[in-house]
Amino acid sequence: MAFTLIPLPYSDDALAPAVSAETLSFHYGKHHQAYIDKTNAAIDGTELADKPLEAVIAAARGSNQGLFNNAAQSWNHGFYWHSLAADGGAPSGELASMIDASFGSLDNLKQQLKDRGAGHFASGWVWLAEKDGKLSIEETHDGDTLADSGFNPLLTIDVWEHAYYLDHQNARPAYLSAVVDGKLNWAFAAENLARGSAWTYG
Ligand code: FE2
Repeated sequence: MAFTLIPLPYSDDALAPAVSAETLSFHYGKHHQAYIDKTNAAIDGTELADKPLEAVIAAARGSNQGLFNNAAQSWNHGFYWHSLAADGGAPSGELASMIDASFGSLDNLKQQLKDRGAGHFASGWVWLAEKDGKLSIEETHDGDTLADSGFNPLLTIDVWEHAYYLDHQNARPAYLSAVVDGKLNWAFAAENLARGSAWTYG
């Protein structure tokens, strides 16, 4: 069964002005759709056609870079839409305790997310992730993903230019500040932490 674009979990203007409806119309409706379409075209008629997206990613890693890029980007964008929210709230409970233990404070974590995102060379993704009971910030380049890694990804931020250029032009730090300070979905992070294994697409 072919993969489909998962529904956006909010209206297309819910993240403005951090991420505008215009950006979402292109990023979700064009970029993410294209990754899905190219993944479907590449697996059509193959033994991967009925596999979950995570299995496609794992099978393609290291052996089929074109398919890997599109499948991983399909997954990353689905995870990213859920990593954002109109009002993301604040960490609580076990998540808040682990943030304090791993980063000292929520403010420190937020600053490190901004710094790592701003310093990430060229295109990629910045993640808050859990492994062996400890939280860390991870980076992946281009279309690479934590979907099939040993990490349990909790949140991600897209730092490809297409994520922010219409709203912030080349000012990636302005995009990062707007997202990190107001639009991260901490309830989604807590769900991922409680599950204890990586989110699945769909
Ligand atoms: Fe993107």
